Amino acid sequence: MFSISVDLPSSRPDIAIYKKSPEGIKELNIKWFRLHTSAWVITGLISTVAVWISCTNGADHTATGVNDADTAGVLFQSRYASSAACQSCHPDIYQKYIQTTHFRATQIATRDKVPGSFKPGNNFYRFNVSETIKCIDSNGRMYQQVYINGVNKKQQSFDIIFGAGKNAQSYASWVGNRLVQLPLSYFSYIKKWNNSPGYPDKIVLNRVITSRCLECHTTNAKVIAVNGVFEDFDKSGVLYGVGCEKCHGPGMEHINFETQHPHTQDTVHIINPKKFSRQQELDLCAVCHSGSMNKLQPAFSFKPGDKLSDYYLPNIVSAGAENLDVHGNQFGLLSLSKCFSKSDMTCNSCHDPHANEENQFQVFSQKCMRCHTEAGNNFCTLKEVKANPLKANCINCHMPVQPSKAIVFTEQGTRKRIPAAMRTHLIKVYPQETAKLIKYIKGNNINFR
Ligand code: HEC
Ligand code: HEC
Ligand code: HEC
Ligand code: HEC
Ligand code: HEC
Ligand code: HEC
Ligand code: HEC
Repeated sequence: MFSISVDLPSSRPDIAIYKKSPEGIKELNIKWFRLHTSAWVITGLISTVAVWISCTNGADHTATGVNDADTAGVLFQSRYASSAACQSCHPDIYQKYIQTTHFRATQIATRDKVPGSFKPGNNFYRFNVSETIKCIDSNGRMYQQVYINGVNKKQQSFDIIFGAGKNAQSYASWVGNRLVQLPLSYFSYIKKWNNSPGYPDKIVLNRVITSRCLECHTTNAKVIAVNGVFEDFDKSGVLYGVGCEKCHGPGMEHINFETQHPHTQDTVHIINPKKFSRQQELDLCAVCHSGSMNKLQPAFSFKPGDKLSDYYLPNIVSAGAENLDVHGNQFGLLSLSKCFSKSDMTCNSCHDPHANEENQFQVFSQKCMRCHTEAGNNFCTLKEVKANPLKANCINCHMPVQPSKAIVFTEQGTRKRIPAAMRTHLIKVYPQETAKLIKYIKGNNINFR
């Protein structure tokens, strides 16, 4: 008989995500896709973080029983108000913010938020001749059902959605107060259910979702007990999404104060990262955007303004960029770029933390040109770029989408091995990307106006 194996997070179960990427070249009216038909991997797939921290390092993982940080946790938690509570007084920021993937980094699972098909014929993933999983919608309640040799053995419900679905979604199920990851993820690029990369071609149930996933994908959650690799959460206390309060700290006191003192000019009880030092500003983003790191403190201890190295031990990479993967480590790659080391650049030099700027290459290029100008004599030295239209896309030549070395993904049906890929934050000259773009422009007689 076949048995279903139970996998514990001994290694890094990475998730690859796909991206349908018109490469933002829209602005240039170039059919970028034709250029990449032979090398679609480069345009295509985007990978995600591969950050599943080894569960043995955190202080919160050493004992069985109630977490040390419990009391502090309760106090801290009660000071959160949720992003929705900011809407009435900060409507413009709120309206922009709800378009971001941060807002949807985790959500309670409902049918309308899951793009995958539940129709027979399109709702399954076959692992091997005997093992299949089907996604079932039973009056709005969604399940992944395990079939061994055609017999339904078990089902688990979709309870929490991980990922805005820009490239992929993964799902978690409550088992008591613990969270497990469902075996199938949805990949937006191919519009299919698939086994998550990092797992073998067989059904692996009970993949543990640790507080580390929640630290990066939620605003706050509370661990109420730890038992080996298993953590029990306060189910009703999870604040889903990377909300306003992840970057500004808990907002209850600020709201109470502003409500009671509507005409005062001083703002209190809320963190404004505008006042941060460069390092504080970087650390706020790096806590989730620098790949896997070992925890030095209990989950959810880090707060905006804190020093990252007091809470996590970054994975030291000895020999530079070639060892950093493009997925999940924007901070690591950026910090190896000359733009970064020779200026006071932060993530916010290019990104508006409240807005979704996906594919807005012209907007990003303007950010480059705040520092790189012809007048300043540090502009692009490529003669074609002096021609105006290419100024609208510095990105595809200097921050190209690159295949991930760490994440390779097997597509159902074709069994194709597809490396995931994503936009690199190592800003430099990429001669091959330039050659491709120039060749394409010339070959297609593109006329810029
Ligand atoms: C260290 C922080 C961190 C951890 C831990 C982490 N993630 Fe992520 N996750 C991110 C970031 C950042 C992105 C998007 C940017 C990227 O890929 O670099 C992302 C993207 C994703 C996506 C794709 C989202 C989309 O819109 O396409 C999924 C799905 C996902 N994560 C699931 C998980 C699951 C499940 C876990 C735990 C097993 C987890 N993540 C752990 C930070 C993290
Ligand atoms: C009752 C109205 C009200 C609510 C609700 C409210 N704020 Fe504010 N907030 C204000 C006022 C008034 C200011 C000061 C004027 C301004 O900057 O707009 C302010 C300022 C701020 C600042 C800048 C602080 C500084 O030092 O300059 C931040 C950050 C902020 N709010 C975040 C939030 C967040 C996050 C929430 C939700 C958790 C929130 N606010 C909810 C009224 C409110
Ligand atoms: C609590 C962890 C966390 C923090 C803090 C955080 N991010 Fe993210 N960020 C994520 C996750 C998770 C995603 C992926 C969301 C998804 O697609 O589901 C993401 C996605 C993004 C994206 C991709 C947007 C897109 O369109 O796909 C950008 C850009 C980004 N973050 C920038 C920042 C910047 C800048 C900061 C600091 C001001 C920051 N993040 C702080 C977790 C975080
Ligand atoms: C990913 C992190 C992140 C999230 C999420 C986030 N903010 Fe901010 N916020 C920042 C940063 C960084 C700054 C400082 C930007 C700067 O330097 O100009 C800021 C600035 C602000 C300011 C002050 C603006 C000023 O000019 O002083 C307000 C008010 C604010 N945010 C409110 C909100 C509200 C309300 C939400 C949710 C709807 C939210 N933020 C979500 C990171 C974030
Ligand atoms: C905050 C200012 C700033 C911003 C914004 C900025 N850069 Fe730079 N960049 C610099 C500095 C400073 C250098 C180093 C110049 C030197 O070595 O003299 C540099 C170097 C470079 C180099 C040469 C890298 C190498 O390894 O030789 C390239 C290419 C470049 N930038 C492209 C870009 C692009 C494309 C963008 C936008 C995506 C951008 N920069 C945004 C400041 C910036
Ligand atoms: C020099 C400009 C620049 C800086 C600085 C910068 N980014 Fe980006 N970032 C970009 C551009 C351009 C994109 C591509 C947007 C797109 O593809 O739609 C991007 C995309 C992203 C994405 C989405 C990746 C993907 O492929 O889906 C994340 C996440 C992100 N940035 C996070 C960060 C973080 C965190 C920092 C600071 C450590 C940072 N960025 C600093 C320019 C920058
Ligand atoms: C078609 C691809 C392409 C585009 C678009 C492009 N660049 Fe370049 N860039 C290059 C190449 C190739 C070089 C190296 C040229 C050389 O060797 O003279 C270069 C050189 C540079 C340098 C000097 C690097 C050094 O070694 O000092 C900077 C700075 C730069 N680019 C910035 C930009 C900015 C800013 C934009 C957008 C306004 C941009 N580039 C658009 C391909 C491009």
